[in-house]
Order: sequence, then C-alpha cells, then structure tokens
Amino acid sequence: MEHFSELAEKRRSHRKFADERLTEEQIQSLLDVALMAPTSKGLHSYSFCVVENPEKLTALSQCKDMGSQFVSGAPCAIVVMADPEISDVWIEDSSTAAMSILYQSEALGLGACWVQVRNRKDSEGRDSEAVVRGILSLPENLRVVCFLAIGHKGMERKGQNMEKISALKADKVIRM
Ligand SMILES: Cc1cc2nc3c(=O)[nH]c(=O)nc-3n(C[C@H](O)[C@H](O)[C@H](O)COP(=O)(O)O)c2cc1C
Repeated sequence: MEHFSELAEKRRSHRKFADERLTEEQIQSLLDVALMAPTSKGLHSYSFCVVENPEKLTALSQCKDMGSQFVSGAPCAIVVMADPEISDVWIEDSSTAAMSILYQSEALGLGACWVQVRNRKDSEGRDSEAVVRGILSLPENLRVVCFLAIGHKGMERKGQNMEKISALKADKVIRM
C-alpha cells in the first residue's frame, strides 16, 4: 500500500473523462470512504446523491455560469449535501467527506474534480443550489455544497509541483 503522501502528490483535478462507466464496486467504495470521514460530534450531517443519468449530468453541467460545463462528459457525479438542522458545521462535515471521495478516486485510478455549488449562480443569475435541487428533486432541508465529477481519466496529468509546495510551505506555514 502506498503512503497517503504519494496519493496526495499524484492527485490532480480531472475534467476530461473516457467514455466508460464506473463499476458498482467503485461507486460503493467511494461512498464507503465518504461515510467514514470524520464529522463533528459524529452527527453525519451530510447526504449524497449519485447521478449517472446522462440527461441529469448535462443539466448539472449548466448549474453555474462557469466551471461546471465539463460535467456533461463525466459518467458520474456525486452531489454532496448537508442538513444544517443536524449540525451547525455542516459545511465542514460535507467538505471532509468530499475530499475523501476525491482521494479515493485517485486511489482507484479514477479522475475527479470538485464543482462548487454553494454560493454560486448560473448564467441567468439563479442560485446554483436551487438549480441543482430542482434538477434532482432534492428535499428543501438539504443544502448543496458541491458535486464531484468522477470517471476514468481522459488524459494523464502531472502530479503536484513539489517545488511550488516547498514555496507554499515557506509562505503559508507559521511555526512557533
Ligand atoms: C472548494 C473548491 C471549489 C472548487 N470549485 C471548482 C469548480 O467549480 N470547477 C472546477 O473545475 N474546479 C473546481 N475546483 C478545483 C480547483 O480548481 C483545483 O483543485 C485547483 O485548481 C488545484 O488544482 P489540482 O486539484 O489539480 O491540484 C474546486 C476546488 C475546491 C477545493
């Protein structure tokens, strides 16, 4: 088993996908890691919606004015939602789960990319969360944080630039 740091170095955002569906085992494995992610007080305020329907993926690709169009070429998106009534830190709960899905995608050799939904608008100024809720008929109590486009990589990408990471370490880390 590789160290997590090797996985973290390899992981990049992938926005081009091969025309191949995910297997049920791959989808279950992505959901397993999401549900194992830490949540505040163990309250699991998040929920997930797995979308494989091509029409729905195309509709999701238009939920923002930019940064979501590539989703129409993905075989799968996992929408990450949360219930603010369950936890006041629902954004953190759902973000840790989303990150777990991104890293597990890389571990499975798949490509994935986060698409921000919360606080975003579509090209006609409509709230992206409301647009996604409408497309998927989601309950009103669930806030939509993001979705993750996932598929077989359409192209390889170089891993993280470790020189840049060293520079960031000098700039972004305070030690005392
Ligand atoms: C909170 C968050 C929101 C993001 N939103 C989008 C998005 O809407 N569309 C997109 O194509 N990428 C999005 N990304 C991916 C970033 O653009 C990407 O992680 C960043 O450019 C670094 O590249 P890397 O992931 O290849 O290291 C988002 C990432 C995060 C963490």
